[in-house]
Amino acid sequence: MSATLLKVTGLKVAYGGIQAVKGVDFEVREGELVTLIGSNGAGKTTTMKAITGTLPLSGGDIEYLGQSIRGKGAWDLVRQGLAMVPEGRGVFTRMTITENLQMGAYIRTDKPEIAADIDKIFGIFPRLKERKDQLAGTMSGGEQQMLAMGRALMSRPKVLLLDEPSMGLSPIMVDKIFEVVREVYAQGVTVLLVEQNASRALQIADRGYVMESGLITMSGEAKQMLSDPKVRAAYLGE
Ligand SMILES: Nc1ncnc2c1ncn2[C@@H]1O[C@H](COP(=O)(O)OP(=O)(O)O)[C@@H](O)[C@H]1O
Ligand SMILES: [Mg+2]
Repeated sequence: MSATLLKVTGLKVAYGGIQAVKGVDFEVREGELVTLIGSNGAGKTTTMKAITGTLPLSGGDIEYLGQSIRGKGAWDLVRQGLAMVPEGRGVFTRMTITENLQMGAYIRTDKPEIAADIDKIFGIFPRLKERKDQLAGTMSGGEQQMLAMGRALMSRPKVLLLDEPSMGLSPIMVDKIFEVVREVYAQGVTVLLVEQNASRALQIADRGYVMESGLITMSGEAKQMLSDPKVRAAYLGE
């Protein structure tokens, strides 16, 4: 079995006195595509923010590459190969596509390789190449999502955390985004995919976890979860 890259144990996160994440365990092994699914308000984004150091933990621990990353900031984590595309994308709207991609390489100093990687990203996302000198803010939601993923990939991550990449996109764009997630994974990047679109996420994932009201309530092989009547009833609208 491959090595565990990310291990979350007993994670608790609170906003003021209100516990949003109440003791969560999950792990992501090298080379896996794992999905964390659950409806709006379940605590998925809170969990992601705790991993990337945006929110403090009120309990438990998070290990990356076998070491606790509690209290580490996003910068440190990106240097260690853990990159996140936040919910809502967060592209720099007043910078061009190319400038956004260059920003994604801010931890790197290997200039010629950065240029080569931008070309690689343009290979995965031809749409970004067509618009490379355009301001990011003028692009559609789906295009901005692609840019956000491209920017995160510019740090050459081992693990990519994606928080609801399909949110608010047209069905055609949703297809495209899931295709690209799959492609990034096929290129060797381990992926933790947070999604409300449970059916689509389970279709491309190796394993899945269901989150409800701040707790993990189900987990398993993605294929088995897809055919599980309980999962289907609760999350796949059947
Ligand atoms: N900044 C905040 N302050 C207070 N409560 C919050 C904040 N952000 C999220 N919450 C609450 O925490 C819970 C989990 O939210 P969130 O992690 O965003 O869920 P999800 O990403 O699964 O939709 C919800 O009840 C939400 O209302
Ligand atoms: Mg969320």
